[in-house]
Amino acid sequence: MSRKFYLTTPLYYVNDVPHIGHAYTTIAADVLARYKRMTGFDVFFLTGSDEHGQKIADAAAEHKYSPQEYVNMVVERFKDAWQKLGISCDHFIRTTDESHVKVVQEVFRRLLEKGDVYPGEYEGWYCRPCETFWTQFQVEEAGNACPDCKRPVEKLKEKTFFFRLSGYQDKLLKHIEEHPAFIQPESRRNEVVSFVKQGLKDLSITRTTFKWGVPVPGQEGHVVYVWFDALINYISAAGFSADEKKFRKLWPADVHLMGKEIVRFHAVIWPIMLMALGVPLPEAVFGHGWWTVEGKKMSKSKGNVVDPLALAEEFGVDPVRYFLLREVPFGADGDFSRKHFIGRYNSDLANDLGNLLNRTLTMVGKYFEGVVPVAEKPGFDEISEDLITLANETPALVASQLDKLAFSGALSAVWELINRANKYIEQEAPWKLSKDGNMDALKAVMHNLCEVLRIVAILVTPFIPATASRMWKQLGIKDPLETQDISKASFGPPAGRAGTKIAGVKVAKGDPLFPRIDVSK
Ligand code: MSP
Repeated sequence: MSRKFYLTTPLYYVNDVPHIGHAYTTIAADVLARYKRMTGFDVFFLTGSDEHGQKIADAAAEHKYSPQEYVNMVVERFKDAWQKLGISCDHFIRTTDESHVKVVQEVFRRLLEKGDVYPGEYEGWYCRPCETFWTQFQVEEAGNACPDCKRPVEKLKEKTFFFRLSGYQDKLLKHIEEHPAFIQPESRRNEVVSFVKQGLKDLSITRTTFKWGVPVPGQEGHVVYVWFDALINYISAAGFSADEKKFRKLWPADVHLMGKEIVRFHAVIWPIMLMALGVPLPEAVFGHGWWTVEGKKMSKSKGNVVDPLALAEEFGVDPVRYFLLREVPFGADGDFSRKHFIGRYNSDLANDLGNLLNRTLTMVGKYFEGVVPVAEKPGFDEISEDLITLANETPALVASQLDKLAFSGALSAVWELINRANKYIEQEAPWKLSKDGNMDALKAVMHNLCEVLRIVAILVTPFIPATASRMWKQLGIKDPLETQDISKASFGPPAGRAGTKIAGVKVAKGDPLFPRIDVSK
């Protein structure tokens, strides 16, 4: 039986319009999901939408819809974006799904019964746009404003239910200490640890100031705080308290992916909720960096929000996926600029990868009537042997990078192989071999290049799946690409063993993968 792999993105605020920041988390998760599927895991990839709260109710009212009608409409923007960007999620959960609402109520009931949720009165500073309560100290430190968005905060006093975070401080610290992989990267773990060490206060988890939320069972007028509601999605989607068999199979999640600003919710509140429920904690919480645009924070008011769909429409989906994951190490911040994007498109995709395929297939056509030659001795000289060694080492390197979520490291490793192959063409000069009638060498060189391209196609599949399948088609390979195991790809299956071979295959050269973009236009 294959091993399960359960990974999640956060739930996106349903009334946002998807931008490259949202796309970043989702594409990263998609690459990981595809990679895991290609290495034999039974993957469950979850994403979805966060649909409750005052802001959403306000937006609905403004458009003269009921909140439910409104979210039913706007959720399509996310579903459509993910479909267009090639996101292979296995489930899209909405916090308004009846099955989710039931689990939230069940969690509340259990924690109330246990005493980890208890009634009280809350007075504090509240940021309505961020739907977050802040302490006096935090608000003062931020200059009497919301520490996050810097907008004014208001004082709220209401009857509420508290969640006993304070009772779990030591237990959480102990867990973090004993599980170094629980919060990644390390810088985020350090931030969380010092935050928790300052002392945890109990958290107000119900609201009476608005109605658009999960009703608290048996407590007229109370709805569940949006974060408490939304975090539960990770277990409600996995069948918690509804489908025990499914839950046993999927839980604990292998990784929760998110941006750095919401690590605290996932690495403090969420694990404590699980501890209180007596449910095991997820294996890992990974907080990636933030994208700015030309050095500035992306915001609707600045009008600098980058729409990944418009970008995909103009340049293709795969260049968007490639750029976001290649540009910065996962965990670090990145800056988007159109100039940079086009620069990478032209150099990495059009020149390095696109040309390698195009030149190689043109030569296979010219010298061997489009049939990849059988090579008697692929490693006939030292440079060929070097190329073969690198081709054999790269898959394991890519796999080890992906296991660490080092997406850009994985891509760098693939591009090293691509660039070595391009250099190999210059070094071996097949046109000269042909002119000199050195057929054995020419056969080996063309075979080796095609074999490298076959491996490259497998390795780039999780990142740029549409391109990989175009490469596969042009290489003329009949075996399905999806079932190739990334971690086991190697140069030419050893004689007598089954496996996809390139020798003897009739190639089918097609259009260039990435037509060059003329910057002067
Ligand atoms: N609804 C909450 C999450 C609840 S999960 C139980 C939320 N939603 S969000 O839409 O604001 O953010 C969703 C994801 O998009 C987060 O991972 C966030 O970090 C990411 N990004 C939003 N803007 C971003 C950038 N500018 N750059 C990179 N990622 C950012 O938070």
